[in-house]
Amino acid sequence: MGNKKRYVLVGTGGRAEFFYGALTRDFSETSELVGFCDINQVRMNYANQLLREKYNYPEVPTYTADQFDQMIEQEKPDYVIVTSVDRTHHKYIIRAMELGCDVVTEKPMTIDEEKCQEILDAVKRTGQHVRVTFNYRYAPHHTKIRELILNDTIGKVTSVHFEWLLNTRHGADYFRRWHRDKRNSGGLLVHKSTHHFDLVNFWIGSQPETVFAFGDLMFYGRENAEDRGVTQFYNRATGNPLAQEDPFALHLDSDAHLKSMYLDAETEDGYQRDQSVFGDGINIEDTMGVLVKYRNKAILTYSLVAYQPWEGYHIAINGTKGRLEMNIVEQSYVNSLGDKSKEGALIGKTLRVLPMFGAPYEVEVEEKEGGHGGGDPVLLNDLFGEPAEDPFHRAADHVDGARSILTGIAANRAIATGLPVKVDTLVQF
Ligand SMILES: NC(=O)c1ccc[n+]([C@@H]2O[C@H](COP(=O)([O-])OP(=O)(O)OC[C@H]3O[C@@H](n4cnc5c(N)ncnc54)[C@H](O)[C@@H]3O)[C@@H](O)[C@H]2O)c1
Repeated sequence: MGNKKRYVLVGTGGRAEFFYGALTRDFSETSELVGFCDINQVRMNYANQLLREKYNYPEVPTYTADQFDQMIEQEKPDYVIVTSVDRTHHKYIIRAMELGCDVVTEKPMTIDEEKCQEILDAVKRTGQHVRVTFNYRYAPHHTKIRELILNDTIGKVTSVHFEWLLNTRHGADYFRRWHRDKRNSGGLLVHKSTHHFDLVNFWIGSQPETVFAFGDLMFYGRENAEDRGVTQFYNRATGNPLAQEDPFALHLDSDAHLKSMYLDAETEDGYQRDQSVFGDGINIEDTMGVLVKYRNKAILTYSLVAYQPWEGYHIAINGTKGRLEMNIVEQSYVNSLGDKSKEGALIGKTLRVLPMFGAPYEVEVEEKEGGHGGGDPVLLNDLFGEPAEDPFHRAADHVDGARSILTGIAANRAIATGLPVKVDTLVQF
């Protein structure tokens, strides 16, 4: 009992349950959840209700955001899990380390270069550790690509072509929520692409050197809708008859979980999770193209579009001995709506090796139970259980967290200035 690692969690929204559910259900031998922190008491109370009813775990003490220090003093956690809004991650990561805790943080580690530098400095100053939970690395088909490249299957990697499609269900969700303001999320090139840029860093074993990008809001947002002839607009879906006709609307009162998590909690902070994707005030891009040169000279061409008819990705990796091609169709998932183990679930998958001169062949990858093709349970065991030796070194630290966001942060700057950006001008490691 005394040897159990003690955890508190900050940000009790949709993502939080992935961690507190696993901690209390699957890792109670090694770990103990001892507190929640959030700006919203209703959401914390609901998380406690789920703990009690779904996980058969006693309620934990709750602390509002201004009581974070008090929580650390009273609950004496070893780890702080950060699953709050992206713009707030750095505050909790840094303060947790200053108070002697290690940190497990959701991606993106943070959203801009200043905050990233503050985190890097705090790690040096305090000697504490930060883990960034890149679950995509653990998906078996993603790990397989690392293995194939490590085994020299396609020789030295020279270029990567990476197209990610977000559909009108999942992709649209970023435009209903806090993510639609770049100050909260860094835009999709940070918030979402941090996964993709991390995968490229991980696969090719290198880091970004120079980045150029274009990006714009070309489908969502009021101006685009007006240009397409739309004349009727609304601010939020719930309770609005106009939203009944809108295939992009999310109806918070149609799902008990969504209602308890967001609609019932609005009285506390005014946050509306069901805003119209064709409303005013969206300042993130929905259409993005990025070009990256890596330290090892490899070149990445990357595309992200957030209003596609299907969800998934095409990846081609070219090397001096051949080419890898992966095509994935993902089941689209809306945060807090539906079974979490279905997040990132696959509908279709092909992974092919095309040797420069031999016949192409399919690579079989065994998928297991759990989210992201069985990758999520491996990540969770790495975090909360007895980690197994990992030849692929998938556990990501603050340096991996920084390198994955720096591509997107540089891309944001390139979009703003029209100029390429040298990544080493952004932060000092
Ligand atoms: N790895 C993945 O696959 C994955 C999936 C979903 C979300 N995420 C990450 O999880 C995090 C949370 O996303 P979500 O979808 O749960 O969002 P959410 O809106 O459901 O929850 C965010 C929570 O943060 C709280 N919050 C806001 N400001 C705060 C502050 N100043 N201090 C403390 N708490 C504050 C909100 O009240 C809310 O409870 C994000 O960083 C997101 O990128 C990761």
